[in-house]
Amino acid sequence: MRSIGVRQFLFSRRAYGKSVQTPLVESLRRRILTTGPLTVADYMRECLTNPHHGYYMKKDVFGTKGDFITSPEISQMFGELLGVWIASEWQSLGSNNHLHIIEFGPGRGTLASDILRVLTQFDGIKERISLHLIDVSPKMREIQRKTLCSATADGSTSHQKSVYGNVDITWHHSLADVDIHGNCCVIAHEFLDALPIHKFQRNEKGVFHEVLIDVADSSSPHHFREVLAPTPNANSTKLVNPKDERDHVEVSPLAGMFVQDIASHINKHGGFALLADYGHNGEKEDTFRGFQSHKLVNTLEQPGEIDLTADVDFSFLRHCLSPFKVVTHGPISQQVFLHNMGISIRLKTLLNAAKTEQQRLDLLTSYKMLCSPDEMGDRFKFFMIHPHGHSSLPAAATS
Ligand SMILES: C[S@@+](CC[C@H](N)C(=O)[O-])C[C@H]1O[C@@H](n2cnc3c(N)ncnc32)[C@H](O)[C@@H]1O
Repeated sequence: MRSIGVRQFLFSRRAYGKSVQTPLVESLRRRILTTGPLTVADYMRECLTNPHHGYYMKKDVFGTKGDFITSPEISQMFGELLGVWIASEWQSLGSNNHLHIIEFGPGRGTLASDILRVLTQFDGIKERISLHLIDVSPKMREIQRKTLCSATADGSTSHQKSVYGNVDITWHHSLADVDIHGNCCVIAHEFLDALPIHKFQRNEKGVFHEVLIDVADSSSPHHFREVLAPTPNANSTKLVNPKDERDHVEVSPLAGMFVQDIASHINKHGGFALLADYGHNGEKEDTFRGFQSHKLVNTLEQPGEIDLTADVDFSFLRHCLSPFKVVTHGPISQQVFLHNMGISIRLKTLLNAAKTEQQRLDLLTSYKMLCSPDEMGDRFKFFMIHPHGHSSLPAAATS
């Protein structure tokens, strides 16, 4: 087990004090006073990825000293089983071509490292894979290089060799920059939940209006406050179905465009994709939340200093994919996916190889964190995109 603590499941709320005056507060305030209240999507984008003061742009935010921990950071079993999944999906395509593995938002590079460790053990596969990493954060890209590349590699270049054999690794800013012609395997683990969402709420007449971020007055504990747009706007009329039965709806157009880009890539070049995130099937309402030091905090607190996240609406992603010639499987829960991929067998092997009682205990704890319905087992979902005509593989079986 790599660390302790779990992202998103320690629901203890921190007592709220007056928000700290972060470097982003003044620029957000000036922008709102000049051009009017911001959408939640604009607020989220600034807070997470502002080039100078965005949350992801400055520091390592993972682990016990950070704000949250993710499945690959909990146990090597997670990435190893994803490696096995990639190998079996690739074989099922019956392709002898090169496979470009493209990971979005790779964080510390831990998942990619575990996947490569598995794939480079297969003769016939290790010679034909390359890794493309897409991350907006220069700080994260630096950490990924340290995890994945040998010490002698020149940290300033965007093209390096993996420590696991001769696998080429390239860093890109977006999918559009990835100039590849061949099968691709797209992985996005806890990436879509960081993409900006628009929030909508029914007013007293039952009509959806967009939730906006305005400047708060001096009596508020925060510098900003949520307000409801006085009239419907282009977003609330285009992005929400007026017949939706919920009172609150969250939509991420960027996540929709992201899956469409992937589908068009799969249509052109072949391949498959696995998107794994906290998510739902169009039933959840108000999931936008903030995290700091493993605790739930108000989303308006300390802009740029806290993690902001919203559950992924997989039904919306499916809707966005309907014009494309692809099939989707899922969402299925993490516990089902990992059990279908053989986590119990892998756990047994690692337990047998463990040298100390503490190692055995750590393995059992990490297995429980990944698979227990009370922890990440149920709330974390896996969603797969395949070329048209592909049938469901064992990994996607629900029982
Ligand atoms: C929650 S972390 C997930 C890290 C990793 N996948 C894991 O599970 O450990 C989100 C990652 O996405 C990156 N990221 C956030 N927004 C992004 C964007 N708009 N474009 C590209 N990368 C982004 C962050 O820098 C970070 O590496």
